[in-house]
Amino acid sequence: MTEKQTTSKWTGMKGKIMAWFCNSPLRTLIEVRLLGLPRTAFLSEVSNSIHSNEVILDVGAGSGYFSLAIAKMLSTGKVICLDLSEEMLNRLERKAEKEGIKDKIQILKRGASSSGLKDESVDLVVSNFALHEFSSPETVLMEMIRVLKPNGRVIITDLLSNSWLGKMEVVSADAHGPYSVDELKAFFTKYGLKDVKVSSIKYWLIGMGKK
Ligand SMILES: C[S@@+](CC[C@H](N)C(=O)[O-])C[C@H]1O[C@@H](n2cnc3c(N)ncnc32)[C@H](O)[C@@H]1O
Repeated sequence: MTEKQTTSKWTGMKGKIMAWFCNSPLRTLIEVRLLGLPRTAFLSEVSNSIHSNEVILDVGAGSGYFSLAIAKMLSTGKVICLDLSEEMLNRLERKAEKEGIKDKIQILKRGASSSGLKDESVDLVVSNFALHEFSSPETVLMEMIRVLKPNGRVIITDLLSNSWLGKMEVVSADAHGPYSVDELKAFFTKYGLKDVKVSSIKYWLIGMGKK
């Protein structure tokens, strides 16, 4: 099982526009207020998993809509923001600087299945609205589990496959596409995560498990 994905679809002008949109008040209005993206539920799960000095890996961090909010919960820890898109990461870095939290952010321009991080070096792995874009979610999940410390958690949100929004999402030909609640549960369990919980919130999934 090898991951071939070395580029993101969010590059060039499209990448710059999406980098702006993905961390803008317009996104909050459209995705959170109108389409019910479970931002609050996700951030409260994250906050239950951390104390203040954790190392958190955000896979497919984009321009930092969630990474920056998580970084603000930490006093001495850091969020490693992994993404393939330079446009997304540049915007994330500029925002972190502007918000005075650059010291809590580490930018990592790598593929999701080859983070290059050490085994068992991360307390929590998160990923938002990115799972459906991966061409090989299996290798991505294995990489998440490899870098997690024992008992570390994975928390993922993404589109729900059988919602109209999930059905409308246009994904690249090699991308997996959205999951259903049962598929995500089976996927997490197959790769050895414990205490797996997956639920749907409106058009979205929120799933978690423990190493
Ligand atoms: C829809 S965006 C979501 C970004 C961010 N998590 C958010 O909620 O704003 C998906 C992100 O996943 C990244 N991505 C897709 N496939 C990837 C891969 N194989 N490795 C790393 N990043 C990837 C894209 O570049 C993009 O920034």
